[in-house]
Amino acid sequence: EARTPDRLRSSIVCIMGHVDTGKTKLLDNIRRTNVQEGEAGGITQQIGASFFPAETLRERMGSLVEKKNITVKVPGLMIIDTPGHESFSNLRSRGSSLCDLAIVVVDIMHGLEPQTIESLTMLRSKKTPFVIALNKVDRLYGWSTVKDRPFIESLEVQPEGTRSEFESRASQVLLQLAEQGLNAELYYKNKDFKEYVSLIPTSAITGEGVPDILMMLVLLSQKMLVDRVMWCPEVQCTVLEVKVIEGLGTTADVILANGTLKRGDQIVMCGFSGPVVTRVRELLTPRPLREMRVKTDYLHHESIDGAMGIKICANNLEGVVAGSACLVPYKDVPYDLEVLKEDVMSD
Ligand code: GTP
Ligand code: MG
Ligand code: NA
Repeated sequence: EARTPDRLRSSIVCIMGHVDTGKTKLLDNIRRTNVQEGEAGGITQQIGASFFPAETLRERMGSLVEKKNITVKVPGLMIIDTPGHESFSNLRSRGSSLCDLAIVVVDIMHGLEPQTIESLTMLRSKKTPFVIALNKVDRLYGWSTVKDRPFIESLEVQPEGTRSEFESRASQVLLQLAEQGLNAELYYKNKDFKEYVSLIPTSAITGEGVPDILMMLVLLSQKMLVDRVMWCPEVQCTVLEVKVIEGLGTTADVILANGTLKRGDQIVMCGFSGPVVTRVRELLTPRPLREMRVKTDYLHHESIDGAMGIKICANNLEGVVAGSACLVPYKDVPYDLEVLKEDVMSD
């Protein structure tokens, strides 16, 4: 099966940024969930993953679909949520290394903060493309809301004073980004998406700007990243976390970036005391638009195509190192297993 632009996989998007800028709330707004309110102290402490199907993306882009003549060619977006608290930079690093594309969330009332800069540095060092969500626009003085409206339409109808506060805060952030050596521009003024990072104003509370950010993620995925997101049969898979789940035992949450994983497949991962070789007993996913890190009724699958967040049940997962690659040896090629055992340990 050859790679072709006619068959794309979902792109993997990592959401990063300083603590409390609204990363989880933004995902809650798109999912219509309340994950953030269930978090201890309102702080994300684990890496998360949810699947956003194409149908939901089209629906949430609303009037922009027709206005901008958008065809969604990706099956969806697989979005990874990360904590913004300074102590979790290992999780931000893990998220940023396995994504195709990232969203850096900035609080428009605060501008750039320490973990914003850390996130930008991580993404730039890996040459990962990203957009910036300029979140909490509803907090601008005098902001008048229409739920879920595209930002470009919302801005036009704001009172004069609100518009000028927006312009001055946005300019301030653009200046701070320039000080970091980063060329950026408000997305609707951006003429060169390769040279300039796009700033997308949003509100996770009112949903304003959500159509705009989804449009940008879809367009960047299927235009700029088309080579990267073409589906291929070869398995590319990374372990996010290993955890014990009541009734399931030790499980591995993985991101299958590409290829197909099947029940019964042999898998090879890096363990604390040598390579772990085991077989997939169960392939589980939460429902679309549900968060993998929230206890839920899992769907059982015989086989799953990437990109998808999957909970794997198998023996011997206890010693698996989070962040490790999860490799599948070719069947009937005995030496391949030995090569892979070395590969997973050398990463
Ligand atoms: P960490 O994961 O802990 O780094 O935080 P986060 O970036 O995920 O932020 P979170 O979603 O926890 O939101 C932090 C606080 O900001 C919560 O009280 C949210 O209700 C509030 N908040 C988030 N987005 C917005 C927004 O667009 N407007 C307003 N007014 N409040 C927001
Ligand atoms: Mg969060
Ligand atoms: Na928070």
